[in-house]
Amino acid sequence: MIVAPSMLSADFAELSLELERVEKAEADWIHLDVMDGHFVSNLTFGPPVIKAMRKHSALPFDVHLMIESPDSSLKAYREAGADLITVHAEVCPHLHRTLGEIRKLGAKSGVALNPSTPLTGLEYVLDQLDLVLFMTVNPGFGGQKFISSVLGKIEEFRRIRGNRPILISVDGGIDRESAALVKAAGAEVLVAGSSVFGKEDLKEAISALKA
Ligand code: DX5
Ligand code: ZN
Repeated sequence: MIVAPSMLSADFAELSLELERVEKAEADWIHLDVMDGHFVSNLTFGPPVIKAMRKHSALPFDVHLMIESPDSSLKAYREAGADLITVHAEVCPHLHRTLGEIRKLGAKSGVALNPSTPLTGLEYVLDQLDLVLFMTVNPGFGGQKFISSVLGKIEEFRRIRGNRPILISVDGGIDRESAALVKAAGAEVLVAGSSVFGKEDLKEAISALKA
């Protein structure tokens, strides 16, 4: 099980220290939530801040783009240090091409689905995909309640994926209890913000999610 703490719940004024803390706590990846104030109402950070963070961590950067028209900025995110770039299916009319572009840049490609977005179409881009990010909250903010109706969609995708090397990741409201549910449904990557940074002992929080 890969645990990817979401820096959205970290102290933005202390990003370098927060990166060191999660790395010491045995995080596997760093999840970075990019929000543009359009696709979601919240606004976070972009390539310059990711580039600055890159100097303070050797862990893979899992960049979750909650932005409209991501195609024009993929290169900037890759150059800033993204190892994996995930775009939202809802804003990608040419998803096959977008995923191909991410791979051409040398990054792993991911697609995110909002809770209400069906799997429709994913079966035609399986060969372009390294990861599917199942949103278990409506994106935009940390600390929201887990939406359990997504579990069936995860199970369905696990069947469609077959034995292809495509990771199943979940994001939103992941804590000890929901982690057990998504694991049973097929999740292999857990993104967690408040359930990691909300605890005093980050190492204990991360190992509880892995257990
Ligand atoms: C939500 C973001 C998540 C968020 C998760 O829009 O994509 O990555 O940080 O936060 P929690 O774990 O608190 O739900
Ligand atoms: Zn996210």
